[in-house]
Amino acid sequence: MSHTSFYVRRLHSLCGIVPIGFFLLEHVITNAKVLGGPKLFNDAVAELAAIPHDIMLPIEICVLAIPFLFHGLYGAYIALQGKNNPSQYGYTRNWQFALQRWTAWYVAAFLIWHVVYLRIMVKGGGTPISYELLQSYFSNPIVFVLYTLGMVAAIFHFCNGLTTFTMTWGIAKGPRAQSVVNKCAMALCALLTVVTLIFMSSYLA
Ligand code: HEM
Repeated sequence: MSHTSFYVRRLHSLCGIVPIGFFLLEHVITNAKVLGGPKLFNDAVAELAAIPHDIMLPIEICVLAIPFLFHGLYGAYIALQGKNNPSQYGYTRNWQFALQRWTAWYVAAFLIWHVVYLRIMVKGGGTPISYELLQSYFSNPIVFVLYTLGMVAAIFHFCNGLTTFTMTWGIAKGPRAQSVVNKCAMALCALLTVVTLIFMSSYLA
């Protein structure tokens, strides 16, 4: 590996945690507020929307869009190079490796749809995001299922990425440490998935 690709790969890895992973966690927490009732959720969304556009837009571009584009484009390049062969080597880690790549493609398509529709067309067009708006959006069962899958895919990709991140950076050295990190990451994945399934189901009421 050349010096340049070594640093680019580290930057790709870091972007997956900061800022993208942190943003995903913030997103799950904000969305989970719907469990406290539509008002709590609408207030949380209104608080974010109250941040002046002149401050929010540069943050969205520099802290979110650019790292996302970099991680997504370089990630697509890595994914096209990797070989997935889970059926040949039926070990858990091989499946996780393959799922990391499959979820990457799904999350890429999902994020384009999510951002173009809700952020650019709806919010950018002047309609505030609210519980009522999302409830009517999710009343279409196809949208509901594709959204839920998108969230779960992003959660798995991030949590499995926590394990590979500790390997990339030499934090978890050796099979024992890696196994402990992997178990904690998969426990976090299960927790975030259950929370997401519960808050998504509140839109079906
Ligand atoms: C919610 C959005 C996303 C989050 C939170 C996220 C997070 C992460 C994290 C934490 C890692 C681990 C880094 C490492 O192994 O050192 C990772 C790896 C990876 N990501 Fe993402 N990612 C997201 C979206 C995407 C997208 C859209 C793509 C591309 C289509 C992608 C492609 C990849 C690939 C291929 C890897 C494996 C890198 C390797 O094996 O070295 N990711 N991601």
